[in-house]
Amino acid sequence: MKTMFSDLKLLQKLQGGSKSVTAVFEDDLGQYFVRKMAPLPQASKLIYQANWLKQFQMFSEIPRVLRAAYDDGFFILDLNYYSNAETLSHAYLNEDLNSVSEALGQMLSFAQSKLHLQSEIQYSDKLLADYFDSKVYQKIEQCRFLVSKFESFLVSKTVVINGKEYLNVLPAFQEVLRIDNARRALKAQTACLIHGDLTFENILLTNNGVVLLDPNDENILSDPAVEFGKLLQSVHGNYEQLAQARIQIQGPQQCVVHVEAPKIQAELLKMIEAEIVRRHGPLGVFASYFHETVHFVRLLPYKARLGSGFIPYFSRAVQLVNELKERAEQLGR
Ligand SMILES: Nc1ncnc2c1ncn2[C@@H]1O[C@H](COP(=O)(O)OP(=O)(O)OP(=O)(O)O)[C@@H](O)[C@H]1O
Ligand SMILES: [Mg+2]
Repeated sequence: MKTMFSDLKLLQKLQGGSKSVTAVFEDDLGQYFVRKMAPLPQASKLIYQANWLKQFQMFSEIPRVLRAAYDDGFFILDLNYYSNAETLSHAYLNEDLNSVSEALGQMLSFAQSKLHLQSEIQYSDKLLADYFDSKVYQKIEQCRFLVSKFESFLVSKTVVINGKEYLNVLPAFQEVLRIDNARRALKAQTACLIHGDLTFENILLTNNGVVLLDPNDENILSDPAVEFGKLLQSVHGNYEQLAQARIQIQGPQQCVVHVEAPKIQAELLKMIEAEIVRRHGPLGVFASYFHETVHFVRLLPYKARLGSGFIPYFSRAVQLVNELKERAEQLGR
């Protein structure tokens, strides 16, 4: 019987995502391709990805879908393999300002002209409340069970990071949401189609420009600020650098965390903010930082298995919400 792997040679396993396996294969004709596969009960994200990518095959920014099919209890998505490509993360770590800013420019213009086509849908208060409840409140609750060792960090009113006292994630977020203009900024965004996971890990620099991997439908809200929030997670949140952070736990809710951000960070942030202001005004900037912070907290349970490696992610989340609170206060009441 011909199986889904007959005549294929596994060449390299790529960084594994949450619910699918990604690897490079060679077929019997010597062609390389990337295969993502997930068992059917967990395949809904991959099926969404396949359908999303198929809609946009006319654009060079979207990876070619070679095959999307059910096979032997699995869903399989085969994509063109970009062999000489590097991720934007990689170029960012190498301080390659020219490549990163050129790629960002191309990516932003693609997203804005081809994806972010506005519809008239406005968010209700209930939808915003559900978003906050499922992406922030419940994630902090999950972490309390997953990393009981650090429960004192998760439940205390304040946390001390590098000698500075901060309000904890939930109380700081509650302060943000109490500010009318902050809620108005979130509701001022217009719903549209987005990629949904534009972190630097999901943007490839190829010989022919950028390619956007891994569209994601797990956002509940879908607008440009939700999209920009993911970019900010890489550039402002330092998400991809936190795995290398050096830390010291100094007490039940006190730690020292040292993270090295690339020197080109400030320059890139300026560029992204300018683009958001140009398109969506200052409220768009606030909303983008809001969603960055939500994305960040939403991902914390994935980091809960890292033991003390959890603390850099948690403490960065604390800092982000406190920064957001300052931004919200500047919007005025
Ligand atoms: N078509 C491709 N060509 C070249 N490299 C690729 C390709 N697809 C993925 N990669 C590399 O593999 C890494 C992981 O792939 P991808 O982002 O598709 O999956 P994932 O993040 O593991 O899965 P998930 O969908 O669960 O987030 C990418 O960051 C990129 O470095
Ligand atoms: Mg990915």
